[in-house]
Amino acid sequence: MPGEWELAMKSEDLLEDLARKTEIPTFPSVVAQLQTALNEDEPSLDEVATLVSEDPGIASRVVKLASSAIYNPMGAQLDSVQVAVMRVGLLQLRDIVTAAAVVSAFDGHADAALTRRVWLHSFTSGIAAGLLASRCKGVPVQTPQSNPYFLAGLMHDIGILIVAPILGDRMQTLLDESIATELPVHELEQEELGFSHADAGAALVTSWGLPDAVIEIARHHHQPERAPESIRGSVEVIHVADWLADRQGYGWGELGGSLCDDAWDRLGVPWDEVDALIEEFDRCAAESARMLASLNVRR
Ligand SMILES: [Fe+2]
Ligand SMILES: [Fe+2]
Repeated sequence: MPGEWELAMKSEDLLEDLARKTEIPTFPSVVAQLQTALNEDEPSLDEVATLVSEDPGIASRVVKLASSAIYNPMGAQLDSVQVAVMRVGLLQLRDIVTAAAVVSAFDGHADAALTRRVWLHSFTSGIAAGLLASRCKGVPVQTPQSNPYFLAGLMHDIGILIVAPILGDRMQTLLDESIATELPVHELEQEELGFSHADAGAALVTSWGLPDAVIEIARHHHQPERAPESIRGSVEVIHVADWLADRQGYGWGELGGSLCDDAWDRLGVPWDEVDALIEEFDRCAAESARMLASLNVRR
């Protein structure tokens, strides 16, 4: 199995190759600036609100996301970034701003219908991962400062938005072929291009400077057994969340391969809680579909 250094070098070469074939969106600077502001001992709400307000497109999406029932269960009226920042809390704000900024960065990049399906799948995977992480005893401990699950769910299939414009019309053929042959899409991409959307996504999030957990999750989400042992538990959370989102009707058209039994067992999902978990997922997923609709992702 290749070492970390080798994988980082491969990611760098792959990104250069991808950049020759398609446009690679740059990392939204507001997210990096926000991260710096949040790392301060006493982050200033005013400073954060001003930062977010600088990009009106991102700001209006932040207000819409923060207004959703997931972040605003009491349904308070949020009519400005300042009010949204005060209501949702700084750590949830990091997820919301990242989601708004990343969705904005990919506006018009790949086929609109595919983009919308990928975001819906990614949002619901992020939500499912958060639910699994909060309910399962085998899940690595998350702290408010280190909770990669929503972000990792949001980013795990981002490589497809890079691969799709490269494949063009071949993309749909590949999806059809995957269903006809029952071979997972990532294996067909590998045959066709020499790399998969998991490799492309890992290369992109590496270049964006996202945390190691998010990079390894993007790279190994279809094969958690290949992840480094130190991060394997987190990769398994997304692997199962990804499967759950597909199973409940929030897939993007990918045949991802089978659920790794080991991952499910290792999460330690208590069997008597599975129904309640799925019910909660369905409720949150329906909300995330409404949330995404409010973002005006182009159709
Ligand atoms: Fe995938
Ligand atoms: Fe997925």
